[in-house]
Formats: sequence, structure tokens, C-alpha cells
Amino acid sequence: MSLSATELDATGAEVRVLCIAGSPRRGGNSERLLDAFVRGVNNAGGLAEKIVVVDYRIAPCRGCNSCSDTGTCIVKDRMHEVYGLIDSADAIVISSPVYFATVPAVLKALYDRCQPYWARIYVRGEARPPKRPGGLLLVGGGGDPFGASCAVTTTKSVLAVLGVQYEVELEVEGPDAAGDIDDRADVLKRAEDMGSETVVKAREYRSRER
Ligand SMILES: Cc1cc2nc3c(=O)[nH]c(=O)nc-3n(C[C@H](O)[C@H](O)[C@H](O)COP(=O)(O)O)c2cc1C
Repeated sequence: MSLSATELDATGAEVRVLCIAGSPRRGGNSERLLDAFVRGVNNAGGLAEKIVVVDYRIAPCRGCNSCSDTGTCIVKDRMHEVYGLIDSADAIVISSPVYFATVPAVLKALYDRCQPYWARIYVRGEARPPKRPGGLLLVGGGGDPFGASCAVTTTKSVLAVLGVQYEVELEVEGPDAAGDIDDRADVLKRAEDMGSETVVKAREYRSRER
């Protein structure tokens, strides 16, 4: 398959945007928001690589600290496919519902399994991953007095370890039943625009960093 000029940058490579759907509810509000973002990535000639975390059945981090010794995780599951996608991504964007002010357990398991990236930098003294843009698309039903700041802080913490500069943030409050977000054409459009903007930013980062 040949690629059009808009799908390539000066290095001749595609811009790969890893799009992580973090909800345990398939086809729910945060995944629909991510799908709008994916459309924007495609419109700008990027390559969106969407994964749905719940399908990967990622086991929790065991806290064994093997990754401090070896730089890799000893737990044998599909997180190793995700590591490959993280490593080759030019941008990383996560969509998540708010669960008790933070992210759901299926997504938190992925976050915790990013400990090898932390260990490589802070224990093993290895080079940081190249800087790249990314961020969080968040949907909460609303009404919780504790807000969503923990979801944002937790996501920023893991993205920082992955070398992701937190440049994408869209927080939607209100949609609750699956599909409610379809009534919010404004935020779906905003997510689509952000997808296109992220491809442009990723190209800029790549020309600076590599
Ligand atoms: C276990 C659970 C906890 C939740 N906690 C919150 C919360 O703290 N704040 C909030 O605004 N909404 C909360 N919600 C509502 C979801 O964020 C809301 O339904 C959202 O639209 C779900 O997104 P999804 O369809 O992508 O899964 C919670 C829902 C569940 C199932």
C-alpha cells in the first residue's frame, strides 16, 4: 500500500498515534469519544492504533521489582503487546471514564504495569524515551463531590514516565448511560479536532527529537 504525502513526514514514516480505550464497558461514552479522536487522526493522515484495554486482560503489577533488576516485566500476558505499541508510538492518548474520582481498575492495571519504564530511568539509569505528545479524554457521569482530579493526576504521572508531554485534555461531565455522549456533538467535534491536532504536534516532536 502506498501512502499519500499527508501520511508521511520528512522522515518518510507514518505518525503512529496509540489510542487506548480504558473503560471496561465496550462501546460506552469514553470509547465513543476516543473514536471521534481516531477519526481526527485519520483525517490528518496519521495512523491510529486503537486498543481496548479490557480485551487484553492485563494482570495487576505484583510489586516484585524484577523490572528493577532486568528492565522488563516478568508477568506473562498481553501487556507485552502493549509495551511494543507504547514503544513505537509517536503520540499516546487515553480515554477513560471516571470511576470513584479516578480511572477504572482495568486501566489502572495497565498504568501500574508501566513500572518497567520508571525502573529503567530511575533505578537503572537508562535513557528516557523520546518526548512525544499525548493526554487524556475523560468522561464522568457527574455529581460526585470529589471530581475527577485523581484520574487526571494519576494519568499525568504514568504518561510522564513514558515521555509523553500532557498536551491533550478533554473532560466531559454528564454522559452516564452508554451512548449518552452521542447527544454532545460539540465534544465529539472537539475530540475529532484534537485527533488531527495531535498528528500535527507528533510530527513536530518527531522532527525535534529524532
Ligand atoms: C464503578 C463506577 C464508579 C463511578 N464513579 C464516578 C465518579 O466518581 N464520578 C463521576 O462523574 N462518574 C462516575 N461514574 C459514572 C461514569 O463515569 C459514567 O457512567 C461514564 O459515562 C462511563 O463511561 P463509559 O461509558 O466509557 O464506561 C462511575 C461509574 C461506575 C460504574
